[in-house]
Amino acid sequence: MLDSLRVFTGNANRPLAAAIATYLGVELGDADVDRFGDGEITVKINENVRGCDMFIVQPTFAPGDNLLELLIMMDAARRASAERVTAVLPYFGYARQDRKDQPRVPITAKLVANLITTSGANRVLTMDLHSAQIQGFFDIPFDHLFAAPVLIQHFRNLAIPDLVVVAPDVGSIKMARAYSKRLGCSLALVDKRRTTKDQTEVMNVIGEVKDRNVVIFDDLISTGGTIAKAARALRKHGVREIFVGATHAAFNEETRKTLEDSPIREIVVTDTIPQQPELLGEKVRVLSVSKLLGEAIRRIHEERSLSSLFI
Ligand code: R5P
Repeated sequence: MLDSLRVFTGNANRPLAAAIATYLGVELGDADVDRFGDGEITVKINENVRGCDMFIVQPTFAPGDNLLELLIMMDAARRASAERVTAVLPYFGYARQDRKDQPRVPITAKLVANLITTSGANRVLTMDLHSAQIQGFFDIPFDHLFAAPVLIQHFRNLAIPDLVVVAPDVGSIKMARAYSKRLGCSLALVDKRRTTKDQTEVMNVIGEVKDRNVVIFDDLISTGGTIAKAARALRKHGVREIFVGATHAAFNEETRKTLEDSPIREIVVTDTIPQQPELLGEKVRVLSVSKLLGEAIRRIHEERSLSSLFI
């Protein structure tokens, strides 16, 4: 086991990093992550980190400064002789372009993986990647957690009768199957087609949903268009109440209205991305994944297995 466990953060999600540090019983590391007059990022670690096991917590949702802060902090940590640097990305941004599925498009997930490794990360800890195979873009140890224990507990507590788990698109079927197994209910699928980068169209609903209550699970809600359209299609197919569970909430100003105008009753998201209360609206509840991430950090530090965190 390495000597001293330290948790640092940039400005992307300080409340989550503070909650993780509290869980671990350590102080958040002292670092200035600031701006020069022209907006460039400047970092200064204000304590000795030589020989330390350093965890830098920073979700990389837009703007790109969040990613840049992480990269620059890792560069500072490596140059300050930290023994091991773990990039902790509660939300791994730029993951949606993960393959070349059209001519002349980038693979941003691979680009970000290269940047993280080059900046000095010795390992990565993240949660609910857009696609699990992004792990293969790294050649350093990579731990991929799921928010499922937190979301499942919530829906178990609600004890919703006649429940069906719904995957909002083909890409999330594997995740939805895991949720349905753990909630002990059946599975249905919304057949979605992406028409533009931010627009989708529902083609069909596959599975028995009439007169049932449903919970849609997704990795990410951004504009809210995907789940709002899925919810409307499900309503047309005779569904009773509609619930949603999603790990990451990258809301914009339009999302609240889209969700409020939808037939969804409740939406549960986590705090991997910090939320502005005015963008959330009445239907959205935020649960914390700080204990899950904190426990994973503790076990990585103590060289213990993470397996039981997946149950
Ligand atoms: C897509 O494949 C993802 O899993 C999400 O369904 C999607 O990114 C959500 O985006 P939006 O809320 O903008 O429809």
